[in-house]
Amino acid sequence: MFCSILVTLFMALNSFSASSDIKEGIQGYTPSAETFAAKEQFRDDKFGVFIHWGIYSMMARGEWVMYNEKLPYDEYSRFAGGFFPSRFDAGQWVRQIKASGAKYITITSRHHDGFSMFDTKASDYDIIDATPFKRDVLKELADACHKEGITLNFYYSLLDWGRDDYPRDPAIAHTAKERELYAKYLDFMCAQITELLTNYGPVGCIWFDGDWAKIQKPKDGSPLVVDFDWGYERIYRLIHSLQPSCLVANNHHRVPIPGEDIQVFERDIPGENSAGYSRTSHVSDELALETCKTINKGWGYEIADTNWKSVPELVRILVNIAGRNANLLLNVGPRPDGTIPEESVERLAGIGDWLSKNGESIYGTRATMLKPQNWGVVTHKEGKIFLHVLEAPAEGTITLPFKIKAKKVSEFASGTPLKFKKGKDSFTVNLPSDPDCSTDYIIEVIL
Ligand code: GLC
Repeated sequence: MFCSILVTLFMALNSFSASSDIKEGIQGYTPSAETFAAKEQFRDDKFGVFIHWGIYSMMARGEWVMYNEKLPYDEYSRFAGGFFPSRFDAGQWVRQIKASGAKYITITSRHHDGFSMFDTKASDYDIIDATPFKRDVLKELADACHKEGITLNFYYSLLDWGRDDYPRDPAIAHTAKERELYAKYLDFMCAQITELLTNYGPVGCIWFDGDWAKIQKPKDGSPLVVDFDWGYERIYRLIHSLQPSCLVANNHHRVPIPGEDIQVFERDIPGENSAGYSRTSHVSDELALETCKTINKGWGYEIADTNWKSVPELVRILVNIAGRNANLLLNVGPRPDGTIPEESVERLAGIGDWLSKNGESIYGTRATMLKPQNWGVVTHKEGKIFLHVLEAPAEGTITLPFKIKAKKVSEFASGTPLKFKKGKDSFTVNLPSDPDCSTDYIIEVIL
């Protein structure tokens, strides 16, 4: 009894105090000129493809299979010994992805199962040491991306379901033991991040995931309790010092932390929380924005997941996201043999076909002050505004609540001029009688 009081007292004395006492990230962070330029390029790119691939792909039940099915780590890790993606061809992946019009690829370098899909000296649990394949697939992908002019980004899990130095046990939360373990684990992560930013040429972004594992959300709706210090200042400084044009993104579902360049939204368009992951409604004005979504339901390869979204549905997601000033990161989950399922490849090609005709209204654009409307969204770029009509308005016209000095208004697909009226504080365009809004009816306004 006395002992447990002592332990409790010890834990209390060692506990991190409330959220406000942890200064996360790089206080007073101002992006360098290189980082700033990379962020603008990222915003212009608008569309990327996410790849979830790891030894979990062999089980074909998603990347959470070990955790969800409570598989013993030692037994699970033996799957590495059979990982041999005989049909993996980085060049083919990049060509298939490039055909979608995507400008960048974000691939899982190490997911929550802790398996590194690259040649790392920091662990033997990696594709070179633990599999018979012994090929650094990230290196092959990096070379193919550089050849094809596609930016490569690395997803990196902060949390780890297997390592002994990752402080998983809630019983040691806020103790010296936790901090001691985590200090070792942080060294390990920094060593791996250094490898990723040294051995693979220019990297567009490091995309973190797993922060949410250490955040407590009180059931009574009171603010989040951030009482674990991930050491973001060290991590973010390391990234910006190794490659100043490498952006920092963190899928932590909360208000951005100084030092980050991209605010990530999981399965949701910025500002909405229909997927239920966002722990804030905050949408940054300064950071670039990105929403990640799946083509079917899951991220990692799932044999039974046939919930494929259609091409028009995916295009409308892209347009809706662009109209909120954000990028779409659309996921594919390659099979264990190294091929991307045909259903995904076909959809990527379909999006690419649409972008090859309509990309001008997406790439390089920004959203306007006009919030998304019932009929759709607006994007703009130098000298032009694009009205993306996603639902035909019953009244047959679209009215913007401000004055526009329009020179010409036309249907983007055909170039057919459309009638418009400039009001004192408004601008109205007449739509044709039956506009085809099944994907996106685009109106181009030349200023
Ligand atoms: C979640 C999941 C993870 C997936 C990620 C993609 O954080 O834990 O499996 O990689 O979302 O956004």
